[in-house]
Amino acid sequence: MTGIDKEVQPRIDYIVEPASGALQGRIRVPGDKSISHRAVILASLAGGTSVCDGFLDSADTRATVAAFQQMGVDMTLEGECLSVKGVGLNGLDAPSGILDLGNSGTSARLLLGVLAGQKFSSTISGDESLARRPMRRVADPLNAMHADVQTTSEGTLPAHITGNRRLRGINYELPVASAQLKSALLLAGLYAQGKTVITEPAPTRDHTERLLAHFGCPVTRSGRRITLESNTLRAGRLRIPGDISSAAFFLAAGSIVPGSDLVIEGVGINPTRHAVIEILNRMGADISVSNLDEGSAEPVADLRVKYRPLHGIPIPGDLVPVAIDEFPAIMAAACHARGETVLEGAAELRVKESDRIRALAEGLENMGVTVDVRPDGMRVTGGRPTSGVVQSHGDHRIAMAFSVAGLAAAGPVTVRDCKNVDTSFPGFIDYARQLGWEIREKSGIPDS
Ligand code: S3P
Repeated sequence: MTGIDKEVQPRIDYIVEPASGALQGRIRVPGDKSISHRAVILASLAGGTSVCDGFLDSADTRATVAAFQQMGVDMTLEGECLSVKGVGLNGLDAPSGILDLGNSGTSARLLLGVLAGQKFSSTISGDESLARRPMRRVADPLNAMHADVQTTSEGTLPAHITGNRRLRGINYELPVASAQLKSALLLAGLYAQGKTVITEPAPTRDHTERLLAHFGCPVTRSGRRITLESNTLRAGRLRIPGDISSAAFFLAAGSIVPGSDLVIEGVGINPTRHAVIEILNRMGADISVSNLDEGSAEPVADLRVKYRPLHGIPIPGDLVPVAIDEFPAIMAAACHARGETVLEGAAELRVKESDRIRALAEGLENMGVTVDVRPDGMRVTGGRPTSGVVQSHGDHRIAMAFSVAGLAAAGPVTVRDCKNVDTSFPGFIDYARQLGWEIREKSGIPDS
């Protein structure tokens, strides 16, 4: 596997035509991105060879792979099967240069936790979008564990991590519901003297806890409190399910195109990730779950979506942190729903790969949709969006969301700058085409 491609690429735009008929068929979306990152990290730090099936080979997960390769971990990817020769918790080598994590927030935050506990010093950086995202939320509690993580004065990347620190466990209440922050602290906890106990303000995805346990390092939960119980990791075999965050675009698409009937096979339906199903169903969608298999670290099922007219809802506040990545897809559905969809308590959307509240509002308005923007959310009045040109702001999920919104619009929609779809869903257009959803790619000159 190679590192991150630094060459300037032509800008890729998507042209989405309104669907000429129902979307129909069965697909299996690529592996879960969050779980794939964690698989690389934990398998690298475990002793022995781990085999992870269903691995997502995307630009983001390649950033994590490349970072561990730079630190001496040997891994091979054949198809979707990643084999990792783990080096043990203390077996990483000092990287020869800066670890460039591209667009990937998960790589950056989780690696800060790992690097804080190493004998060697290191520096991590990222692309323009990642370099704008907040890192102090991770650096501060790591430093409270006696790490030495220095960000820029704005609290952003690049970050320098001084090695050879003796970390101490922490009893920490997360100020923000963030699985990346929780995971960074649990990973640093593997290197700490004493217990690491973390309290979440609201549940967030629990893949790190599940995978730690799967790799032989139990984590206990009591209410909102999570305690790391060990600091040993052993190699294992892991099956990574399809990514529900990728499936979400098909759930939304099938819900808005009359007559549609789609099955998405083998999707991860971890209860801390599957709220998108509940939200869309509360909006009137017809999404059903079958063939549930809970036999591995993560539950898997087939999802079937059949067209049914949607109506707007107030999105329940407790579902916001556990559907945080699905709001682009949900809002793309909401602009075709009858009435208002109201999202509140979602300020975290402003610090994702783009400011997703702004990006969604701007794009929807360009399609003639009425949007009332709030600091922590938005109110979208559904109807029949028009054709239009929208910016993805280089954000993969915004690009795919407007590909959904365009499906039932009154005319074609151009979505600009869609190259980063590869960060989470390489081949998205081909999957869409299999179901009768036509998206054309057009290359252009990159925006300066
Ligand atoms: C992720 C956690 C979420 C999510 C991101 C992936 C993870 O971020 O938005 O796409 O894999 O832990 P936050 O922890 O910032 O909420």
